[in-house]
Amino acid sequence: MADPTSRNAAWIHRDLAVLWHPCTQMHDHAVGPDGTRTIPLLPIASAQGAWLTDMDGRRYLDAVSSWWTCLFGHRDPRLVAALQAQLDALDHVLLAGFGHAPAIELAEELLRVTPPGLAKVFYADNGSAAVEIALKLAFHYHRNRGATRRTRFVALSGGYHGETLGALAVTDVPLYRETYAPLLLQPLLAPSPDAYLAAPGEDAEHCALRAAQGLRELLAAHGDTVCALILEPLVQCAGGMRMHHPRYLSEARKACDEHGVLLIADEIAVGFGRTGTLFACEQPGVSPDLMLLSKGLTGGMLPLAAVLATQRIYDAFYAEHVTRKAFLHSHSYTGNPLACAVARAVLRTFAGEPILEHNRATAARMRDLAAPLTAHPHVAQVRQTGMIVAIETVADARTRRSFPALERRGLRAYRHALARGVLLRPLGDVLYWMPPYCVGEDELALLATVTAEAVDAACAD
Ligand SMILES: Cc1ncc(COP(=O)(O)O)c(C=O)c1O
Repeated sequence: MADPTSRNAAWIHRDLAVLWHPCTQMHDHAVGPDGTRTIPLLPIASAQGAWLTDMDGRRYLDAVSSWWTCLFGHRDPRLVAALQAQLDALDHVLLAGFGHAPAIELAEELLRVTPPGLAKVFYADNGSAAVEIALKLAFHYHRNRGATRRTRFVALSGGYHGETLGALAVTDVPLYRETYAPLLLQPLLAPSPDAYLAAPGEDAEHCALRAAQGLRELLAAHGDTVCALILEPLVQCAGGMRMHHPRYLSEARKACDEHGVLLIADEIAVGFGRTGTLFACEQPGVSPDLMLLSKGLTGGMLPLAAVLATQRIYDAFYAEHVTRKAFLHSHSYTGNPLACAVARAVLRTFAGEPILEHNRATAARMRDLAAPLTAHPHVAQVRQTGMIVAIETVADARTRRSFPALERRGLRAYRHALARGVLLRPLGDVLYWMPPYCVGEDELALLATVTAEAVDAACAD
């Protein structure tokens, strides 16, 4: 029976009457015979720092930064102030035929901090839209140069790039892709450099080099029909926080250059310090042809995405109107001034404060706190790249045999952690930490304790 005094209960009732939630089988929110919901539904009233508070006043540590968006903590005062100031000047204006200071200044600043060679910024309002834009740009770039045979994309197995049809086409996570497969472009899949797939005795670097060899073979066979390779640098996030050695990216860059294939770096999830450097591409010193940013771009406050392109790509579109070479893509909220102003505050925060140094200390603490889990009989691997820690739970750590997917072990962990006031949202059976950078010592200690309990809860018979 729902508690009649619970504000949560009242809001859940209203929620279920009108909302259809993302990434959710809504039936999982129904109350089952035991009086509980398979997946709890939590109406959130407010947030501050690393914490969310529900309508009944219960608090939850946001260990996944609200789908990896929230960088410095919820309602960060620097971002709130930037948003408030911008509201007093300009809310929104179309970006075709018009410009404004936040869009221009943000573009200037992004081009200063991203890898060399990127020269122009095209805005969108979410990650998937940025992926769509990059795919269209890559195809159209070759077409404008007369290379009309280049119509295919190479993507990495286990990669994720979003859920609109183009982005889903280059995604290799069956859970999201399978149903829509008949509607989708068929990419060429290159082997993932995922270090979890290393052969016995092989280290992460050799595993990456072996995957790069697979990519070279694929491009040797099909390179002249390929527009671009799209990948998530260093961490394949939604595919299970799969991590790889930076050498893969330099090898992929070389292979793309040899075959005239563009390299699209999707840093939507890993950008803005998540991997230890401001951008993941910095670690191998790779400059992509197209770079995609979203999520942390506004520190989790407003939807915004940016596609950064080289001058060479821009120039392939720059011509007299009659040539019909223009890129005529548009979204109503392209370059929204409020979102751009908040994104500028994000960049100012990185420029003015030692965020990355601070994160190094936090990441070291995360490593120490996660280390004991490596000995757990149901943990096959604890891996880390910067501010991302992932814990691979399996039926048998020795053989790495997975749990049957239908057992929904990760869901048990999720439920346990929520009951203990921690938002851990596993990807299948992979539990991970991707906290806001303001997370403190006590919060990390709580996270580690609850994660250990959640692993036990998930793996118990
Ligand atoms: C690497 C990557 N690319 C693209 C996307 C899609 O972004 P959005 O959810 O804003 O459409 C995501 C979302 O998780 C992502 O992780």
